[in-house]
Amino acid sequence: MPKKVIALLGSPVLDGNTARLLDEAIRGAKEAGCEVEKLEVAHMDVLPCMEFFQCMGSETCLIQDEMEGIFRKFRELDGLIVATPVMTMGVPGRLKSFIDRFQVFYMAKYHRGRSLISPEHRKKRKMLFISIAGMNIPNVFDGIRMTMQAFGEIIDCPLWDEVLQNDMDTIRDIRTRPEMMEAAYRKGYELGKLLG
Ligand SMILES: Cc1cc2nc3c(=O)[nH]c(=O)nc-3n(C[C@H](O)[C@H](O)[C@H](O)COP(=O)(O)O)c2cc1C
Repeated sequence: MPKKVIALLGSPVLDGNTARLLDEAIRGAKEAGCEVEKLEVAHMDVLPCMEFFQCMGSETCLIQDEMEGIFRKFRELDGLIVATPVMTMGVPGRLKSFIDRFQVFYMAKYHRGRSLISPEHRKKRKMLFISIAGMNIPNVFDGIRMTMQAFGEIIDCPLWDEVLQNDMDTIRDIRTRPEMMEAAYRKGYELGKLLG
């Protein structure tokens, strides 16, 4: 059985620089033998968490939208690739709303003490994080990285490695940095091989 990887695009630009890096990582993971499904947050009809807290005592969310199917996919995945630009020093709004809905996983793991992911499965799950930022300043990825670390812990798919490029306002087109395209491909491939 090929390992399942979800590739999550957090940018609203479906053919922008973030998407280009993600596509390279997908190519790598596929060449390593994984089955990869790409999800574009910009295409999803997902509401933000409204703190109804049904998930305190149940494995479901009161809000009935696309997240129901997404939760199932996130329980089954072996590897996760998240690719997103930095916005206002953090995670873009739609992606943040998407991540917050994983309170369903948080409550199971930390409130009820029983993760939705089996002990055997969670030992192997890994996340690759890809991000770009316009500015050329220190610590530009600190905020977004903290969110991704927390997300990885919550869904039992810990942050394994990252591909980061700042200064995109100057670089403009990531294809002028073949070493970054190559890094994204290589990390996707390595992730796929590690999962296998
Ligand atoms: C609303 C918005 C907020 C942004 N905030 C930041 C920021 O805080 N820091 C930064 O370095 N870049 C910021 N950027 C720049 C993006 O990270 C950058 O343009 C990136 O290359 C966009 O990638 P994409 O075209 O693949 O979505 C912001 C861009 C937008 C549209």
